[in-house]
Order: sequence, then C-alpha cells, then structure tokens
Amino acid sequence: MIIPKWLCHAFLSLICFQSILIRQCFAYTNIDLYNGNAWPQISTQRQNAIRSQRDIMRNVTIDQIPYVGVDLRKVLFNQQSVEVINQMGPIHLTSGAIGNETNALIDNFTSLLNSGLQTMILDIEIRNNTWMVVETDLKFQQYLTALNSFLVQSHFDLSANIQVLLLNVITKDNSTIDTTSFPDPQLNITDLMDTYLGSKYIFTPEAFLKEQYSNFTITRQPRWPTVQQFLFDKRKRIIISELTSTLNLSGTPYIFPHDILHYDENNSTLSCPKDNIGINKIKEISWRFLNAPFTIDEIRQYISCGLSPIISNYYDISNVTDIVELISPSIVWTWEEDEPRISNSKLVMGKDSIQAYNCAKIKYMSANSSLSWVVGNCYNKRSGLCKKSHSEYNWFVTREVDSFFDFNDLQEHTCPEGYNFSIPLTPLDGLSLVHYLENSIHKSTEEKEFWIDLNSIMVSNCWVIGENTACPYSKEVSTRNFLQMILPVSIVSFFLLAGVFYLSLLTIPIHDNRKNWKRIVNQVSKNEFEGVPS
Ligand SMILES: *[C@@H]1O[C@H](CO)[C@@H](O)[C@H](O)[C@H]1NC(C)=O
Ligand SMILES: *[C@@H]1O[C@H](CO)[C@@H](O)[C@H](O)[C@H]1NC(C)=O
Ligand SMILES: *[C@@H]1O[C@H](CO)[C@@H](O)[C@H](O)[C@H]1NC(C)=O
Ligand SMILES: *[C@@H]1O[C@H](CO)[C@@H](O)[C@H](O)[C@H]1NC(C)=O
Ligand SMILES: *[C@@H]1O[C@H](CO)[C@@H](O)[C@H](O)[C@H]1NC(C)=O
Ligand SMILES: *[C@@H]1O[C@H](CO)[C@@H](O)[C@H](O)[C@H]1NC(C)=O
Ligand SMILES: *[C@@H]1O[C@H](CO)[C@@H](O)[C@H](O)[C@H]1NC(C)=O
Ligand SMILES: *[C@@H]1O[C@H](CO)[C@@H](O)[C@H](O)[C@H]1NC(C)=O
Ligand SMILES: *[C@@H]1O[C@H](CO)[C@@H](O)[C@H](O)[C@H]1NC(C)=O
Ligand SMILES: *[C@@H]1O[C@H](CO)[C@@H](O)[C@H](O)[C@H]1NC(C)=O
Ligand SMILES: *[C@@H]1O[C@H](CO)[C@@H](O)[C@H](O)[C@H]1NC(C)=O
Ligand SMILES: *[C@@H]1O[C@H](CO)[C@@H](O)[C@H](O)[C@H]1NC(C)=O
Repeated sequence: MIIPKWLCHAFLSLICFQSILIRQCFAYTNIDLYNGNAWPQISTQRQNAIRSQRDIMRNVTIDQIPYVGVDLRKVLFNQQSVEVINQMGPIHLTSGAIGNETNALIDNFTSLLNSGLQTMILDIEIRNNTWMVVETDLKFQQYLTALNSFLVQSHFDLSANIQVLLLNVITKDNSTIDTTSFPDPQLNITDLMDTYLGSKYIFTPEAFLKEQYSNFTITRQPRWPTVQQFLFDKRKRIIISELTSTLNLSGTPYIFPHDILHYDENNSTLSCPKDNIGINKIKEISWRFLNAPFTIDEIRQYISCGLSPIISNYYDISNVTDIVELISPSIVWTWEEDEPRISNSKLVMGKDSIQAYNCAKIKYMSANSSLSWVVGNCYNKRSGLCKKSHSEYNWFVTREVDSFFDFNDLQEHTCPEGYNFSIPLTPLDGLSLVHYLENSIHKSTEEKEFWIDLNSIMVSNCWVIGENTACPYSKEVSTRNFLQMILPVSIVSFFLLAGVFYLSLLTIPIHDNRKNWKRIVNQVSKNEFEGVPS
C-alpha cells in the first residue's frame, strides 16, 4: 500500500503538536508541505489570520470592508496564456491527468481563488451562440462550475468568505443585449447561473431592496447587510454586478447594475482622507474599487485609504503564480506577517511562569505611520487603546500602563471616564487612529505599542472582541464531528488546523486555571476568588 505523502505530513504534524517546540514545528511543516507545484500554499497560520480578520469585521457592512481582486483578462484569461499553452505540448494537471487549454486555465483559476482574492473582473461575450470568456476557448458555464466548486468547498463557518464578481459584457459595436427577449435558453444567463453556480449563494438585487428602510427613496443611503448577516445569517457568498451596460438587467435577477459601485480605472477619483470629516465622506460611498496595475506598497496604501484594489498587472499562465507576491501580503490588513502566532498557553504556563500569548496589541511606527497587529503576553503592562463611547473616531491611547486583563475588565475603568477599551474595525478606522497618533503626545516616540480589545483567552488561536466572549466555533469543534466542521481550502491544512483547535480545546488554557490566574492578577483581592467555583 502506498501512503500519500500529505498523509504522512499530516500525521507528523499532529505529533509535532505534542511538542513544546510548537512554533518551530509549524515553521518547518509549512515549508515542507509546499507541494511542488508552482502555486504556494497558504499556511495554517495565515488562514487563521484571514479568518480572524473576517471575524473582527463581522459587524461591518459588506460594502465597507476591503477586497483584493484581479482583472482576470489581464492576469490569466488572455491570448498570451492560450499561446503559451499551445506551445507547451502535453499539460500535466495537478490531478496527474493530461489536460487541454480548458482544464489548464480552470486549474490555475481555481488556484488563484485559493490564494485568497475576493473580487474578480470577468470579460464575456457571445461566440458561436454560447457565452464564452473573451480571448479563450473557455465557456462561461465552465468558469461558473469552477467557481461553484470553490464555494461548495469553502462553505463552512471557518472558511467562508465574500466574493464579488464584476462582469464586462463585450459586444462588437457596443450594442446592448435585451436579455428579456432572448430566444435561446443557451444564452439565458440566469439559467446558466442557476445550473452551474447555484442561486443559493447569490445575494440578489431583490434581497438587497428588501433590506432598505422605507425612507431609502428619500435618503438614497443604501443599507447593505453586515458580514455576519451576509455570510452567517443568510448564508450568501457572492455578489454579481455588470460593469458594462450591455445587458437589460430587468431580465437578469442575479445581477446588480454598476450604479451600486464606485468603480475607477487607472487613477482613483477619491483621494486619501486627511481627517475624520474626509473619512466620514468616503464612508458614504459604497463598494470603492480601483482597477489598476499596482506595486505591493501601492496596494497597501490604497487599502489603508479605504479602497479595494483590483490588480490588472499583465500576467499569463506562465507567470501568473507570481501574483501571489502581490495578493498574499495584502489580503491581511490587520495582523503583521507571521501573526497571530500560534499559541498554546498551557505549554508556557508553568507553576510560576505567568505568560499568556493570547492578547493583541498594535505596534505604531511613527516613521512611516504604519500600524501592525501582533500577539503579546497578556500580563505585560502597556498602554491601551480607548475610544469615547458612542463616537466613531474619538481615540485615546492611555499614558498609564496596565496588563491586558485590566483593560479588558469592564469593572476596572482603566480607560478614562466615558471611554471604552477599543479596536479599529476597518482600514479607515485604522487611518483615523493614525491621524490621532500623529497629532497626539505619542508623536515623538519612534514606536508605540498598546493593547487593543482582541483576545484568544477562552480558546487559544480563536480571536474574539470583548470580555468573556465565547469562541464562535467552540461549539462546533467540541462536538464529535468537529473534523467535518473545519474545512479550510486545502486538505493538508485541514489536518493542521484540526490539530490546532483540538489541542486548544483539550487544554482550554485560561479556563482550566482560572482560579490560579485570577489569583495572580488580583493578588490584592485574593480572598474574593477562593471558594468561588469557576
Ligand atoms: C457585533 O455586535 C453585537 C451586538 O452589538 C455584539 O454582541 C458583538 O460582539 C459584535 N461582534 C463583533 C465581532 O464586533
Ligand atoms: C496551470 O497551468 C499550467 C500550464 O501552464 C499547468 O501545467 C498546471 O497544471 C496548471 N495548474 C496549476 C494548478 O498550476
Ligand atoms: C478538454 O478536456 C475535457 C476533459 O478533460 C473535455 O471535457 C473538454 O471538452 C476538452 N476541451 C476541449 C476544448 O477540447
Ligand atoms: C460552434 O458550435 C458547434 C456546435 O455547437 C460546433 O460544431 C462548431 O465547431 C462550433 N464552431 C466554432 C467555430 O467553435
Ligand atoms: C465602445 O465604447 C467604448 C467606451 O464607451 C468606446 O471607447 C469605444 O469606442 C466604443 N466602440 C464602438 C465600436 O463604438
Ligand atoms: C431565463 O431563465 C430563467 C430561469 O430558468 C427563467 O425564469 C426566465 O424566464 C428565462 N428568460 C428568458 C428570456 O427565457
Ligand atoms: C430610516 O428609517 C428607519 C426606520 O424605518 C430609521 O431607523 C432611520 O433612522 C431612518 N433614517 C433616516 C436617515 O431617516
Ligand atoms: C428591458 O426589458 C424591459 C422588460 O421587458 C423592457 O420594458 C425594456 O424596454 C427593456 N430595455 C431595453 C433597453 O431594452
Ligand atoms: C487604463 O489604462 C489602460 C492602459 O493604459 C487603457 O487601456 C484603459 O483604457 C485605461 N482606462 C481608462 C478608463 O482610462
Ligand atoms: C493618471 O494620473 C497621472 C498622474 O496624475 C496622469 O499622468 C495620467 O494621465 C492619468 N491617467 C488617466 C487615465 O487619467
Ligand atoms: C508575465 O509574462 C508576460 C509574457 O511573457 C509579460 O508580458 C509580463 O510582463 C510578465 N508579468 C510579470 C509580472 O512578470
Ligand atoms: C514601517 O517601518 C517599519 C520599520 O521601520 C517596517 O518594518 C515596516 O515594514 C514599515 N511599514 C510599511 C507599511 O512600510
């Protein structure tokens, strides 16, 4: 019997978890599990960062969160790719089979999706009485089928994320297509999406209109669902809009008109907000996209200014894997690279040692006005981030230093009167915080670190906002079928991740030792906690 290589790795990694060298082990397995094909794999740790970032933004409406996307015609579905494929001879697919142009494009498209992007521009046209992807022999229905597999495979609480599909419908003389009177069912886009994509994943214009208050017609302020409502309550995954004005959209109930978007090409018509008034102005605009060629620094810059970059640098199938260098560092605007560190507090919590790497802090660099999120030892004393209650951008970073527990404890009043322990929830929140820091007393310090309201105290590696907030997944993962619930993008990380959650739950670090920890924290009021069962 031949045991697949990935299974051995998975097994070894589970053993690794038992070791106190857990972090080194992670570093090792991630490099080693790189499976030889050109598309690099997203490490478990990175997947955890993506997930935690999504969870932080759960209460933000979906039109205000940052998306990183690609213009598919520029990066993969183009004539250059077709030529490369034709010159290549037999194509060996990841499955081991011999492929043709169609499978090679689809295979690479799937990998592109797995790299974590959340927006795609697709150019389609009618050719030979079929909807086809422009410049290729790829049918639109084949594209939809591949997208569907990705949605099905990631349709779990731990991995689900929002996708935005923007269609360019190309016709010869810019003529419009009246979809309402199409004779041919082959060309019925609604029918294709029903059959090959699955209507249950699509958030429709009709569902959107239902969301609006009756005063929408007066205020024209659209009301989009929050990430929580979209992904977890309605269980939707995708929004589709047409960038061109070719289709008669009264015949296509799944497609939003481009009026809902703020879509720029090449140059942004929105400048980076300079103050909170500017930030509030830009927040009134929904779905802010900029389609242009970018460098990695530009992508980061635009995200921090509240825009969603769509990458249209030129690639083809021979070098499209290089695009990961742009996507991978930019999809996480919160955590620093290699954060949040995988931790299992039990391991470092000896009798006398009081360490718990379960609390998040922000590192502010005044030199380049950048914020990065890192994990810190909850017992360390440092400043904390406070925000005036019921205000949007009234930040305050304390001069006094305290442990994370003191900031997190609602009874302690570590923040000034009228202020609460806080966290920036969007890149624009972060920008207003940067503005505050630039103008505050902290200006002179090169580097400033302060606690933010984010911790994994209840369950290691599961990041939540607030005191005593339960991990949203602990119910799933503590039941017997937890393995089925944790389905990330790739099978290898599936095992790694299962291991992380399994161990976290086995030990439940701070819970197990609550009395002990509380005693250490509250040395003064020790007696209050003795005898109280926890
Ligand atoms: C979202 O808002 C609800 C209700 O105010 C609150 O209970 C929850 O903790 C918030 N979640 C996040 C991630 O901010
Ligand atoms: C991508 O395309 C290349 C052909 O250039 C092919 O060899 C490879 O199998 C495709 N799939 C993946 C996942 O890279
Ligand atoms: C490519 O191969 C697949 C099966 O592997 C087949 O279904 C498809 O029709 C082929 N496409 C072309 C253009 O030959
Ligand atoms: C058009 O489609 C028909 C059948 O659907 C096929 O026989 C023919 O080869 C196609 N022509 C081109 C140019 O692809
Ligand atoms: C189609 O529209 C684009 C942009 O609106 C324009 O630049 C182009 O010239 C038009 N093409 C034709 C053939 O009318
Ligand atoms: C297209 O397909 C949908 C769903 O199958 C159907 O409701 C609609 O009537 C069709 N449109 C036309 C113009 O045939
Ligand atoms: C719109 O109506 C809802 C309730 O129907 C209300 O809560 C909201 O404040 C109104 N918004 C404006 C801008 O009037
Ligand atoms: C789009 O379809 C609707 C409903 O069938 C029709 O009333 C309208 O005239 C069409 N618009 C265009 C531009 O063809
Ligand atoms: C953006 O730039 C590209 C390449 O220079 C050009 O083809 C395209 O027309 C430009 N788009 C707009 C809206 O100016
Ligand atoms: C974009 O801005 C640059 C510099 O401001 C300018 O040179 C260029 O012409 C602009 N491009 C377009 C398409 O407006
Ligand atoms: C990818 O390859 C194509 C053709 O060889 C080239 O035009 C393009 O600039 C390359 N892209 C990058 C980012 O290297
Ligand atoms: C800011 O500077 C620090 C160190 O000086 C560096 O590590 C970090 O990458 C920089 N951040 C950005 C966004 O340039």
